[in-house]
Amino acid sequence: MENRQTPIDADIVRRRLAASGLNNLAQASIREIKKLVDQIEADSGQKFVRMEMGIPGLPALQVGVDAQIQALKDGVAAIYPDIQGTAPLKREVARFAKLFLDLEVNPEYCIPTVGSMMGGMACFLTVNRMWADREGTLFLDPGFPVQKQQCKLLGHGYRSFDMYEFRGPKLRAKLESCLQDGKVSSILYSSPNNPSWICLTDEELRIIGELATQYGVVVIEDLAYFGMDFRKDYGQPGQPPYQPTVAKYTNNFILLISSSKAFSYAGERIGVMVVGDKVWTMRSPDLLRYYNSDQFGYALLFGTIYGLSSGTSHSAQCALAAMLKAVNDGTVDFVEIAREYGEKAKVMKRLFLESGFQIVYDKDLEQPVADGFYFTIAYPGMQGAALLSELLHYGISAITLDTTGSERTEGLRACTSLISRAQFPVLEERLKRFHQDHPVAAAVR
Ligand SMILES: Cc1ncc(COP(=O)(O)O)c(C=O)c1O
Repeated sequence: MENRQTPIDADIVRRRLAASGLNNLAQASIREIKKLVDQIEADSGQKFVRMEMGIPGLPALQVGVDAQIQALKDGVAAIYPDIQGTAPLKREVARFAKLFLDLEVNPEYCIPTVGSMMGGMACFLTVNRMWADREGTLFLDPGFPVQKQQCKLLGHGYRSFDMYEFRGPKLRAKLESCLQDGKVSSILYSSPNNPSWICLTDEELRIIGELATQYGVVVIEDLAYFGMDFRKDYGQPGQPPYQPTVAKYTNNFILLISSSKAFSYAGERIGVMVVGDKVWTMRSPDLLRYYNSDQFGYALLFGTIYGLSSGTSHSAQCALAAMLKAVNDGTVDFVEIAREYGEKAKVMKRLFLESGFQIVYDKDLEQPVADGFYFTIAYPGMQGAALLSELLHYGISAITLDTTGSERTEGLRACTSLISRAQFPVLEERLKRFHQDHPVAAAVR
């Protein structure tokens, strides 16, 4: 094995790994892997098949770019945006909620944030401080690793479980076992799920909603991949089917809606949080430890959002308002555009399977997991960190599932967005070589 020729010079990989200070690839973050691979690419002069980071592989919605340029030309760069967001954006967010979620929300409670990353941070900061006797967030894993990092940064506690084993009615007892000591203040999950791409059903959302109401917990529903369960068409304004949401089953909700993947607007760092009326108007004296008001919405806006960033880029708000208006008016079908990720996933999964890999999270209840932005892979007999380290020699990068709170430590998360179709033959050839170099024993097959 030591003398084998690999597409990427093994010395370069070894040197860069050693210099990176990453003692354990299993725990390496997306950004750490990205930096490592940038360096190996530069040293080797070889382009990787990059699957570690969810950078949109599609161009930003043009209507947003045009609106942002115009806003800058009109002089908004000089003007602090209002902390609660611009009126046109708030109006379009509320319309979007009605047309794509079938949900009535108050535009006043729709707040722009610097990406859903900041939306999550603002939620943890405020929700987890509402009750002094509670500990923090319950994550329904696997999940987006940096959200737990945010809780850690804030000194909040968190708990989690891998929901793959608790789908359908089984979710109720498991969830209840986590909530019944009264220590949880918020629940967070993404659906479609990063990284497994399972999509919670209405039955499961009902369970989460009912228990959130029963235990007085706020659900933070992360809709970063809004509408991207491509088995359904969630992209027609005002027409069913609608993107499923917990907001149908509890008033204790905050929705995080990101422009990054749905509108390929990741670079401008803009998203919105939609706070349910009940949560916005909740009062808790424990908030007064940190804020001038005991009312959640007031504390969120004039305490948390003000303190974090004093609002969100003015021109990016103009862009998002224009993009939402276009999809609300039905002139842009954002789901149809994003469907490309699902098409690529189909081909990529086939290439991995043909070279001896397996899909880790392969079922969404009884159905095969849908094709979307992410999929998860494993290779017989290898743990995630070892597999990642080996794949780096073949010019393929991903992140381990260990970092996502998954119990499936043998796996990696692969992202379909950045790889171009022109790279598929390279991926195929590299995977075949990997497979030849790593024969799978009949017994483990
Ligand atoms: C589940 C999830 N939540 C939030 C985000 C971050 O979104 P934003 O770019 O809006 O900060 C991502 C990005 O990959 C994500 O996968």
